[in-house]
Amino acid sequence: MKMVIGIVRPERTNAVLEALYHAEVRGLSMSRVQGHGGELDRVETYRGTRVQMGLSEKVRIEIAVSDEFVDPTVKALCDGARTGEVGDGKVFVIPLERVVRIRSGQEDKSAVTPVGS
Ligand SMILES: Nc1ncnc2c1ncn2[C@@H]1O[C@H](COP(=O)(O)OP(=O)(O)OP(=O)(O)O)[C@@H](O)[C@H]1O
Ligand SMILES: [Mg+2]
Repeated sequence: MKMVIGIVRPERTNAVLEALYHAEVRGLSMSRVQGHGGELDRVETYRGTRVQMGLSEKVRIEIAVSDEFVDPTVKALCDGARTGEVGDGKVFVIPLERVVRIRSGQEDKSAVTPVGS
């Protein structure tokens, strides 16, 4: 299992959710974050140029998936979030040790697969 984390532009959120739905990925968490993606703003000051690390609003989407869903999930995040411009975001794939569905006590693969699918 993996935890797939996508950090995307807020205005691409709906496109990403749609792409995930079509990839049959169900179950995710989302939060608003502030991020820095390498772009530096130059600020002119009295004695020269200062560089400021600007922060921009992004949406962080976390999706725990079984192994066969890793590639479709990464692809859906990329397809939904890409505009081709600098700042489109990133996807991180992290090993996931254990998942527990609280209601039933089910673990791991049967816990990341939503009931009814
Ligand atoms: N190395 C990183 N670690 C953690 N978060 C990151 C990292 N790089 C980018 N992010 C997050 O992703 C957001 C978008 O990053 P961004 O798209 O600018 O990445 P990039 O690698 O600079 O790509 P691009 O060249 O398209 O700008 C950032 O605002 C930040 O929230
Ligand atoms: Mg960047």
